[in-house]
Amino acid sequence: MAGVTAALETVASRLVAPEFAAGTVWLVGAGPGDPGLLTLHAAHALAVADVVLHDALVSPDVLALAPRARLESVGKRAGGERTPQLRINERLIRLARDGLRVVRLKGGDPLVFGRGAEETLALAAAGVRFRIIPGISAGIGGTAAAGIPATHRGLAHSVAFVTGHDTSGALPDDVDWGALARGADVLVLYMALRRIGEIADRLLSAGREATEPVAFVTEATTSRQSVQVTTLAQAAAIAADIPRDVPTLIIVGPVVALRPLIAAWQDAAPMSCVPVSQRATA
Ligand SMILES: C[S@@+](CC[C@H](N)C(=O)[O-])C[C@H]1O[C@@H](n2cnc3c(N)ncnc32)[C@H](O)[C@@H]1O
Repeated sequence: MAGVTAALETVASRLVAPEFAAGTVWLVGAGPGDPGLLTLHAAHALAVADVVLHDALVSPDVLALAPRARLESVGKRAGGERTPQLRINERLIRLARDGLRVVRLKGGDPLVFGRGAEETLALAAAGVRFRIIPGISAGIGGTAAAGIPATHRGLAHSVAFVTGHDTSGALPDDVDWGALARGADVLVLYMALRRIGEIADRLLSAGREATEPVAFVTEATTSRQSVQVTTLAQAAAIAADIPRDVPTLIIVGPVVALRPLIAAWQDAAPMSCVPVSQRATA
């Protein structure tokens, strides 16, 4: 552990971070869970922020890296209460106008299925300066951490990232599942636990095989990560046993079959964080 710390200090001492100016907002991707998957920009932002507005999915280990910031939770878990988006936008603008260094911390990448686009548009319309710090999206980081390659030269040349529900919780109307079934070798589904039965039916109708392998990856990159592998025909049965509020990726495609060969030799322990006992919360 001491070696890791010394190595990180060496890296940090060779980098000059951009100024996080008072009165600005940084939209920061927190990655899928393991604090070791944060970018250096993200770690810097957390270290100097005055206030962090974070989603429910952001891991406590990541929040522990913002010891001087006030923490405000504005997210929701599946089925729970969500802070209305308008209120989040207004809060970001208010805090920036109060002259604070504001971090808007989102799981994964801030602009992938996370309403980051709405927030940047609201900030731009209000004339508030902001910076976007990309993060490792769960669909990339979670897939790799589970030992499933998103592509493979001989098996899969394309991958699509798809959401399994729209704002009302229904299967998104404007997703052409037939075209996806025929056009993308690998499908990485976010927020699809409740709809995987319908999705599987549509993929099967469009010609995907009932025996095609499917992986459920829950709480990817954390110490609680678990992976279950099944087939498209059996996917709904597996989903029924996973609690709705557990973050889950569903990966459909031939690359899932490589997992036993890869995962058996893969080290995937996450970094662990020293807990911060005394901190401000809101
Ligand atoms: C609102 S979306 C946010 C996605 C995020 N912006 C990203 O780029 O990963 C939340 C969904 O991402 C997926 N997700 C996020 N973190 C995950 C994790 N650690 N393990 C598995 N799935 C995860 C789940 O499908 C979850 O329901």
